[in-house]
Amino acid sequence: MSALSPARPAPPARPEAADESRWGALIDTLDLTAKVRLLTGASLWALHGEPRLGLHPVVTSDGPQGVRGTGEVPGETGLLAPAPSATGATWDTELAERLGRVFAAEARRKEVDVVLAPLVNLQRTPVAGRHFECLSEDPLLSGALGAALVRGLQDEGVAACLKHFVANDSETDRTRYRARIDPRTLREVYLAPFERILAEAGPWSVMGAYSGLDDGTESAPLLEHRRVLRGVLKDEWGYDGAVISDWAATRTTAATAVAGLDLVMPGPDGPWGDALVEAVRRGEVDEAAVDDKILRLMRLAARVGKLTEPWTPGGQPPPLPAAPAPAPVGEADFAALREVLTRGTVLLRDEQALLPLDPGRLGSVALIGPNAVEPYLQGGGSAHVPAVRTVGYAEGLRAALPDGVGLTVHRGGSSRRHAPFVDPALLTGMRAAYLSGDGTPVGEEVRRTGDWGVFDVPDGVTDVVLTGRITLAEPGEHLLEFGCAGRFTVALDGTPVHTGEDDRGVELILESGHHHPGTHRRTVRVDAAPVRLDLRIDLRVVDADSYGRFVTAHVRHLPPGPGVEDEIAEAVGAARAADVAVVVVGTNEEVESEGWDRPDLELTPQQHRLVRAVAAANPRTVVVVNAGAPVLLPWAGEVPALLWAWLPGQEAGHALADVLFGRAEPSGRLPWTLPARAEDVPVPDAVPVDGVLDYHEGLHIGHRGYDRAGTEPAFPFGHGLGWTTWSYDRAETLAPSATATATATATGAGAAGGDGPRIAVTLTNTGPRTGREVVQAYLEAPDGAPGEPVRVLAGFAVAEVPAGGTATVALTLPRRVFQSWDEERRSWRPAAGRRRLRVGRSSRDLRLTLDLDLDLDLDLDLDLDLDLDLDLDLG
Ligand code: BGC
Repeated sequence: MSALSPARPAPPARPEAADESRWGALIDTLDLTAKVRLLTGASLWALHGEPRLGLHPVVTSDGPQGVRGTGEVPGETGLLAPAPSATGATWDTELAERLGRVFAAEARRKEVDVVLAPLVNLQRTPVAGRHFECLSEDPLLSGALGAALVRGLQDEGVAACLKHFVANDSETDRTRYRARIDPRTLREVYLAPFERILAEAGPWSVMGAYSGLDDGTESAPLLEHRRVLRGVLKDEWGYDGAVISDWAATRTTAATAVAGLDLVMPGPDGPWGDALVEAVRRGEVDEAAVDDKILRLMRLAARVGKLTEPWTPGGQPPPLPAAPAPAPVGEADFAALREVLTRGTVLLRDEQALLPLDPGRLGSVALIGPNAVEPYLQGGGSAHVPAVRTVGYAEGLRAALPDGVGLTVHRGGSSRRHAPFVDPALLTGMRAAYLSGDGTPVGEEVRRTGDWGVFDVPDGVTDVVLTGRITLAEPGEHLLEFGCAGRFTVALDGTPVHTGEDDRGVELILESGHHHPGTHRRTVRVDAAPVRLDLRIDLRVVDADSYGRFVTAHVRHLPPGPGVEDEIAEAVGAARAADVAVVVVGTNEEVESEGWDRPDLELTPQQHRLVRAVAAANPRTVVVVNAGAPVLLPWAGEVPALLWAWLPGQEAGHALADVLFGRAEPSGRLPWTLPARAEDVPVPDAVPVDGVLDYHEGLHIGHRGYDRAGTEPAFPFGHGLGWTTWSYDRAETLAPSATATATATATGAGAAGGDGPRIAVTLTNTGPRTGREVVQAYLEAPDGAPGEPVRVLAGFAVAEVPAGGTATVALTLPRRVFQSWDEERRSWRPAAGRRRLRVGRSSRDLRLTLDLDLDLDLDLDLDLDLDLDLDLDLG
């Protein structure tokens, strides 16, 4: 039985029109200054309230790996879900909807009204820093799952904030670049998930991106892009929710106010306020536009239960509508996250049917690898959630194995490129002097840590000077590494070794310069230990607006010790002696984070050596990849079994044990393509040239790019073995209104721009266990249609079928798949002619063919009627 609770009936999606008709009169009672005040946040996370409108402060918080909360409760923790690409790998809209409900309960616990999720930008390039936060490289899959997450949240009365509108698909220069995208690609690929989610789930807010857009007709920062922000989102799609800026993304006043931005975050300062009042007075912004923004804010408040009858300023506000208090976080939530993770875990390869392992027949297990010892549970950046509990791989396996089965754990070398933070025991006399502008000491702090950071430096303090000593305790080569943000000098024994002159403010936060600073490395040879070095770091305080005033200094140290090769040799010995070796390799916080893109797709070379050596030592080796985004696995074809375990969140160890020991099927399918070689990646980087990021691949994103080039990926989009086998028996069209004669649980992709044809696929579970299959349908381009994608995902459904059982699942194919955008006429043009629909297990394992004759009314009416005459032709 599912650990996630069943659906509850949805409350009304929007307030009654009658309510809204009174709001205009209320807004009219405010003067312009009072109105404009409401349009910039009150703080980092909250919006302003206004008694005269009955408006209570609406509170936002980051997702999408959980709900972090507003930081007002010291030490607050919460549920840490698998990173979104693991949800993407479930391909299961019903499961995603239930996960949305888990997030809604968490939001309620933390008194959060708006969860800043889901993120439905696309995995255009595998190096993108926020790849792990996206659902998929495919617009259809992202749209279907994003809609489900929004439904789950909002059905429980918590707003989603769909982000980042639009084409904010990479991090390099993210606040400055303009994505140059041709209009057809913009519509069919990057706007597509937003369009679908708006139509299907109606998110109550949308976040406007940092980046800019050049769609051939207008080139501007997104928040100033009239044609797309106001023109497409609001005018064309009729969006009635609130458009919120990404944090500190708003840089202008009238231009953003006119282009369709409704709310500036965070606050209380920002480029609107008095400047917007003046802009209205000068006639640059219509006051009616201000009123409309307030109306949208009130609508958002009403939807989340934060709008009541007005009250007298200074008086007692009316009580908020009572919402049932969610149960405290507990086992049911943990089980829910564990289920999402097992369902998303992808079995990429299992040559000898090694999995699942029978724990009763095992004598010993060697758990090996840097990520086995230190799993990377969540990506870095704004999505970060301090977890209420974490279950590491060793803990999870130990809990699942019978008492008599031995489990040994071996690191097998480090996966890091940086030295670890210095051991505090090696620091002496560490103190920070706080100085005012004229150099007068105004405070002092004593703290022993190599991860030095202060985020609430008091006003008046302009500089912080850290002093102390590092002891290098043993003879040999020591590596010291220093990283600071902003303007600084690091000196060792009085000699400057590292300086910085970056005077940027909030940009240092937005580009993660504060927690991912460039570093200086220095090797110190110690002959006669111990050696003590005087350390002094002068730091200029960085003013990052609403994010606070901060200083950061990282002091890292790698002492001489057992070399990587020694650790690998020790691990190989253990693998040889064990019945089974489980090797966990992957990324860490140095690699996958918001704020920067990766330079390449490489794991550290020592991880490759470790995997190869362990697999050679024990033929029963299972390799587990703990990463959100693709990494190159040059040994993928050599290891017996290979699992992709994502950035797993808090239930990492339990979920891995479930899939290794047969308690749950690893039923995930790749939501992106795993390249075999770096040179095969269609978009290998995202470095803007002269401020422009050219989306040169056009429609050919992700798997479509591999199909166009004819390259063989390591594992294709949609691939995943599960633990049973399938035969695809039959595919046929269904009458548009017909209900599928499904004998299995089926969750379809649903509508995008309206439902198109429906097909039924019959399949048989030919293996030994009950299994879950993701049935995928791809529409192929007509022969001789240059420039068209070879095939696009057109629909999918999940079937759960007992061993030996046969099931029929229904897939609804959205109309949009059969249309292309005609920019000249600014409308959708239906496809014509004969087209093939391929049905199968992945984009490269296609088992059935349906030939479609698209008999179309070519009249380019906006209200298109897609008339499909479908001929069945089994391939
Ligand atoms: C991110 C958003 C996030 C916001 C608030 C921004 O830097 O791009 O995704 O919601 O910060 O933390």
